[in-house]
Amino acid sequence: MRGLNHHAYYSTKPEETRHFYEDILEMPMTMCLRIPNEVISGKAEPYCHYFFEMGDGGCIAFFDNPTVFDGEPPFEVPSAYYHHIAINVDSDESIEYFRKKLEKEGYSTNYIDHGAFHSLYMHDPNGMNLELTYSPPEWDDFFVRGELVAREQLDSWAETRS
Ligand SMILES: [Fe+2]
Repeated sequence: MRGLNHHAYYSTKPEETRHFYEDILEMPMTMCLRIPNEVISGKAEPYCHYFFEMGDGGCIAFFDNPTVFDGEPPFEVPSAYYHHIAINVDSDESIEYFRKKLEKEGYSTNYIDHGAFHSLYMHDPNGMNLELTYSPPEWDDFFVRGELVAREQLDSWAETRS
């Protein structure tokens, strides 16, 4: 394992969330992705997935999906996707290694190739949602460019929310 990649949770107030993490806690927003379809169901549910960096490369990330999370929190999360901890692994081979090992032990897994993230999702024995993730080096530029437009992306998303 290569450290925390992100801890993901839901949000309902993107600008307040950004202000809290970026301005008050001084954790820069390093990525903000506007995604047209919910990844697990494939439904046309536009949402925003945004990340704040903790100083060691690990991030606290949020899913802002008004279709799923409408009203005041707390909410029950409908799938592993909305509240999980992602741990870095060093290769696609490691993902496959752990997939086989987990399934041999009776744990079901769900692999998703997000492009910049190759991710294997599962539940631990306590029901906690985990993701093992590998980012291929050919996507490095995506993260560099993503950081440059993160604020613009979140601002435009927040406008659609209000
Ligand atoms: Fe994740």
